[in-house]
Amino acid sequence: MKEELSIDIVGLAGTCSYALDCIEAELVNIKNKHGKRVAYISVCMADYWAIQDDALQDLAMCALLHDNALTQYISEELEKNPVIDLEKDLSEEKTHLHCIYGEKNITKIPFKTDVSNVILYHHEHADGTGPFQKKWQEIPLFARIIHLADTIDIIANSMESDSQRWNFVCQSLLKNKDRLFDSECVNAFIHAFTKESFMCLSDGSFETRLWEIIPRQKQIFDWETCKNVADFFAKIVDYKSSFTSRHSIGVAEKAALFAQYIGFDSINVQKMYLAGALHDIGKMAVGNEILEKPDKLTDDEFSQMKNHAGYTYLILSDVEDFEEIRDWAAFHHEKLNGKGYPFGKNADELNEPERIMACIDIYQALTEDRPYKK
Ligand SMILES: [Fe+2]
Ligand SMILES: [Fe+2]
Ligand SMILES: [Fe+2]
Ligand SMILES: [Fe+2]
Repeated sequence: MKEELSIDIVGLAGTCSYALDCIEAELVNIKNKHGKRVAYISVCMADYWAIQDDALQDLAMCALLHDNALTQYISEELEKNPVIDLEKDLSEEKTHLHCIYGEKNITKIPFKTDVSNVILYHHEHADGTGPFQKKWQEIPLFARIIHLADTIDIIANSMESDSQRWNFVCQSLLKNKDRLFDSECVNAFIHAFTKESFMCLSDGSFETRLWEIIPRQKQIFDWETCKNVADFFAKIVDYKSSFTSRHSIGVAEKAALFAQYIGFDSINVQKMYLAGALHDIGKMAVGNEILEKPDKLTDDEFSQMKNHAGYTYLILSDVEDFEEIRDWAAFHHEKLNGKGYPFGKNADELNEPERIMACIDIYQALTEDRPYKK
C-alpha cells in the first residue's frame, strides 16, 4: 500500500506568507502580516459572490502566496544588473516578471479548483493599464480580488490613525473605480467592510477570524505532491540568496536519501524531505547584507545570523501538527556538546533525525560555493 502524509497546507502557506512579508517589506511599505491581511480581505470580499468551500480555500491560498516569486525576481534581476532600483522597478515596467515566475511556481501547489492566471494577473488594472494590459473582463475574479486587497492593505498602512485609514481607503476606492479596480470588486469590498469591521485588521484580531472562515484541516498528499509542496517552499528560501540557490533542495534530497538508507519508513523519509526543504526558512527574516557578507561577521551580525534557526522554529510552530518536522528542521545548528544554537540543546535532547539534519546541513554547505568560505 502506498503511504501518504497529511499536511496542514493552508497553515504552511500562512506561515510562509510571514517569510514573504519580510521580503516584500524591503520593497514596498507593508506591515507585518500583510499576506494574511490580503487573504482576510479577499475571503471577506468573496462573500459577495457566495464563493465557498474549496474555491474559498484556494482564494485564501493564492492570496497568502501572491508574491511567492519575489525572492526569485530579486535574485535574478540582481544577477543581471547589480545596481537596479528594485522599488522603482516593481512599481514600473518590471512588475510582470514576478507575476510570471509566481504563476509558474504555484503550479506545484495542489489546488482543489482551477486557479490558473490568478497569480499571473494579480497586478492588472481594471482599465487595461496594468503590466499585461488586460481589461477586467479578461482577468480571473480571484486575481481582481487579490489585486484590490493587496493595494488596499498598502494604502491603509500608509495612514497613522484608524479613522484616517478608513477614510483614505474609501476615497482611494472611489477615485480608482473603473481605473485600478473594477466596480464589482469595489462593491464587494463595501459589502464586506464597515469602518468598525475594518479595524480588526489593525488590532490583529482578524487572524482568528481568517482561520474560522478557512478551517485549517490537514489534507492527505501522496509522495509526489508532498515533494512538490516542499520544493515550492525550498525554492522561495533558496532564491533569498544567490549563493545558496540549491541549498534547501540539496539538504532535502540528501536528508531523505540518508533516512532511506538507514531504514526509516516511507512516511519518515517524506518528513525528512519536508524538514530539509524548510530548515532555513528562517533566513527569510535575516538581511542579505549579513547572509552574503564575505568578511567575518561582527558579534552582533553573527547573533542575527544565528537567529535564522530560531525563526525557522517560530515560523513552523504556526502549522498544525507539525512539531516533529519543525524540530527536525529547526535544530540543525544544535550540537551534541550543547554549544549549538539557538537553543543550546545537548545530546540527550537531540534525536536521530535532528542529528542527521545537522550533519546533512554541514555536508551540503561544505560542498557549495559561499562568499565567506575562505
Ligand atoms: Fe505582487
Ligand atoms: Fe502584496
Ligand atoms: Fe541554517
Ligand atoms: Fe542550511
